[in-house]
Amino acid sequence: MSTISYSDKIPNNVNLSEDRTLQRALEQWQPNYLQWWGDMGPEGSQDFDVYLRTAVSVDPQGWAQFGHVKMQDYRWGIFLNPAEKDRKIHFGDHKGEDAWQDVPGEYRANLRRIIVTQGDTEPASVEQQRHLGLTCPSQYDLRNLFQVNVEEGRHLWAMVYLLHKYFGRDGREEGEALLERRSGNEDNPRILQAFNEQTPDWLSFFMFTYFTDRDGKFQLCALAESNFDPLARTTKFMLTEEAHHMFVGESGVSRIILRTCQMMNELKTDDPARLRAAGVIDLPTLQRYLNFHFSVTIDLFGADESSNAATFYSTGLKGRFEESKRSDDHQLRGQTYPVLQPHDGQLIERRVPMLNALNEVLRDDYITDSKAGIERWNKVIEKAGIPFRLKVPHKAFHRNIGALSQTKVAPDGRPVSEGEWSARVSDWLPTENDRAFVTSLMGRVVEPGKFANWIAPPIIGINRQPMDFEYVRFN
Ligand SMILES: [Fe+2]
Ligand SMILES: [Fe+2]
Repeated sequence: MSTISYSDKIPNNVNLSEDRTLQRALEQWQPNYLQWWGDMGPEGSQDFDVYLRTAVSVDPQGWAQFGHVKMQDYRWGIFLNPAEKDRKIHFGDHKGEDAWQDVPGEYRANLRRIIVTQGDTEPASVEQQRHLGLTCPSQYDLRNLFQVNVEEGRHLWAMVYLLHKYFGRDGREEGEALLERRSGNEDNPRILQAFNEQTPDWLSFFMFTYFTDRDGKFQLCALAESNFDPLARTTKFMLTEEAHHMFVGESGVSRIILRTCQMMNELKTDDPARLRAAGVIDLPTLQRYLNFHFSVTIDLFGADESSNAATFYSTGLKGRFEESKRSDDHQLRGQTYPVLQPHDGQLIERRVPMLNALNEVLRDDYITDSKAGIERWNKVIEKAGIPFRLKVPHKAFHRNIGALSQTKVAPDGRPVSEGEWSARVSDWLPTENDRAFVTSLMGRVVEPGKFANWIAPPIIGINRQPMDFEYVRFN
């Protein structure tokens, strides 16, 4: 099961050729997918040969193979982690029963909705990032962008496979609709708001892959616990790919910080105007971008109290992050969890039934994970001998979902008046001016081994290639 058949029209490790109906349905979807990729995938990249990794097995050791491929010839396919023998349900009301190999009728609507919502984010991010190739800071970065893009395309395949195989006609219709919605389109937008925002520049791209792809990791981890075994196995393999996306974000921001710190020490200044004149991104601007991407991303976890979250957990559709590593009863009845809410100009903590607070639980796990990388960024600043530190804003800052969206809160967690918010927001979130400055830095650097002035080179090449390796052949 773990070997991938590349002789099929659709590469897969699910014996697709044995299910003719399914194979035919997916082969009908395939040209529509390729059409979507041509229309909405990375702009102007059709003729490029790109040094990409392709999944060749689902064995964690050596699952990928590297080589130059034309983008539209990338072998998108269907890869599931191997089945765990006699897998049992390990949380919720069905704990102890056999995991489901098919969709129980009573959970069909909810499962479909979960799969469609996850699936919708995958093409959305490709659409958001489609112009970035025109302003890449190096071949290395261009290649990483394209790698992320083709894998998000593959994640769409992963979800469409489940829809086709397990949801019949409505599944096939959802598969079509996933190719029809468009990020940012007023009439037919993507489902979740963060996926309708623009990713207009490379700083936004690196922040997005650090913060928003990490939301992807947490959602996938929660789905990897699912009672619905095919969903668990699919998302487990997606997580293998996701790690690289977050690496791109973390190392990208880190290299920007390094370059800025070098310039600060060279010019002996922390004056944003002088640093900007020298063509690097000042640290307060990085902090504002961080504040924006962090706050928009934590909204993706949904309302702090949610009866849907309780239902998804109790019925076993979606677990917690690292469910099996936790030592409680995995049912959570009668337990409580603190959530924040505004009250008389203050934020107060209230304990609510934990089952209803599972969005908040996942959000808090996400916040802990995000902070670790920010500390690694701070090490770069510290090593340069600069007293500035980046911080994650308070989780009540700039929220649009849940109880906290009712109030204005400063990044330090202090509730503020509308007046103070308006007076200070330009210190806290990227301004038009910030965005225009960052945009002004975006040139196009494609000579092998060369990097834009505002970002340091990486420490090591992809697959240990030398720094001047030709990652992209433009033809
Ligand atoms: Fe993805
Ligand atoms: Fe991703």
